[in-house]
Amino acid sequence: MDFELKTLDLAGAAGEKTDVLLVLVTEGFRAGKDPVSRLVQAALQAGDLEPKAGKLLQAYRAEGIAATRVLLAGAGDGSGRKVHAAVQAAAGVLRSSKAKKLVIALPAGSGDEAVRAAVVGTADSSYVYVATKSKPEARELKKVVVGVADAAVHKAAFARARAAAIGIEFARELGNLPPNHATPTRLGEEAGKLAKAHGLHAEVLGPKEVARIGMGSFLAVARGSAQPLRFITLRYDGAGRGQAPIVLVGKGITFDTGGISIKPAAEMDEMKFDMGGAASVLGTFRALAELKPRLNVVGLVPSCENMPDGSAYKPGDILTSLSGQTIEVLNTDAEGRLILCDALTYAERFKPRAVIDIATLTGACVIALGAVRSGLFASDDQLAQQLLAAGDAALDPCWRMPLDEEYAEGLKTNFADVANVAGRAGGAVTAAKFLQRFAQEYPWAHLDVAGTAWKGGAGKGATGRPVGLLLEYLLAQEGAAAGAAAPGRAKAAKGKSRARA
Ligand code: BES
Ligand code: MN
Ligand code: ZN
Repeated sequence: MDFELKTLDLAGAAGEKTDVLLVLVTEGFRAGKDPVSRLVQAALQAGDLEPKAGKLLQAYRAEGIAATRVLLAGAGDGSGRKVHAAVQAAAGVLRSSKAKKLVIALPAGSGDEAVRAAVVGTADSSYVYVATKSKPEARELKKVVVGVADAAVHKAAFARARAAAIGIEFARELGNLPPNHATPTRLGEEAGKLAKAHGLHAEVLGPKEVARIGMGSFLAVARGSAQPLRFITLRYDGAGRGQAPIVLVGKGITFDTGGISIKPAAEMDEMKFDMGGAASVLGTFRALAELKPRLNVVGLVPSCENMPDGSAYKPGDILTSLSGQTIEVLNTDAEGRLILCDALTYAERFKPRAVIDIATLTGACVIALGAVRSGLFASDDQLAQQLLAAGDAALDPCWRMPLDEEYAEGLKTNFADVANVAGRAGGAVTAAKFLQRFAQEYPWAHLDVAGTAWKGGAGKGATGRPVGLLLEYLLAQEGAAAGAAAPGRAKAAKGKSRARA
């Protein structure tokens, strides 16, 4: 989809030739003398339109207005959230009218967050999954013009929003692919393609190399599957060599049956989304490639299936992780932490500034926080604050959870250094406590996106979260790392990727 930012007041908006003109109307709307203002004012006075976010009124070929349809939408106080809600409310009309071009007139006085919400909101609500349909219905909306009082003021925010939308869509598309398509091999190929097309580095390792490195925990999870595992490393080098990178680690279980501790049949199909963390890492790199910030970022994705089989790992097995710590498997369905722990140890070799893992890790996190906020766990208060702020700004919020030592009690076992599960109580926290043992060498945060990475029910599908949060966090670090950055616009390294079987 093509986005454009344009200086536009309501008089200008009236002259825009477009299928739909979406006019966002805030509380305290001040009418001018133009046709759009007159329409809005008449509707408000008659009580046919309210500035409350989500309220809609449609007009067809309205006098003095060049657009075929005018859609008036209440946008409350004009905040990012309200603009997002207004755009979402308008999505149904956009879809049924099969509009190809949309012009959005943002309220006078809109901030960057309104611009972002308009861009990300329209991209989100016009996305259609077609990859495995025999008669794909194409996305109708091709062009979105975002009209603001002064385009120059919002240029940077607009570019970020556009990049976020592209990254989010990439993550959704990967997440939505069925598990017989989105195999570990396919994820490796996607990473390679992404690197090649956008000047990033990708390295994709197979079982032999992973065994040689010594990732005994990751290898064990992969053993029951006919699909070979992949360990993906992506690198975006936007700053000088001297700058320590931020490492993102994404859980890439392309299907989670639970393994020998097998899951019930109901909704098991949704375990294709268990690579949502991996998809968010790839999506974030897609966005970085658009924006080219002066930052170094490494992405690590351990990817495999969790299957029951004669050679599958089983409860009681003791694994030796890359860190040397031994792990007793008490439940093969707690596989995410077993692939992540080795990736967290591997992250040490990059001497990172911070490491953030992203994982659809626990059903317990869904119980705790639902689908609104992702669970945030952090060993470092500053990192936690940065991620919380980034999530709020990106309308992709998270909530900090505790990491008291007492929560690790249940992970004790007589037969290894640690067990892979504790009791049912506090399941999201005990999972994080397990990971924390492997993340001692750097500031670390863990995002449990089990409740936020996808939606179930009629609108079933990947959300692309937390790409928005991660991108926002990373871009904020660009400023913070200014001292270490090389002068001039950083150029990402030339495309280079290799894949091995
Ligand atoms: N991928 C699941 C987590 C999950 C479950 C996410 C349901 C979203 C919805 C993870 O691998 C898992 O199975 N976790 C277990 C852990 C338990 C065995 C300690 C869980 O949450 O039930
Ligand atoms: Mn599981
Ligand atoms: Zn899982």
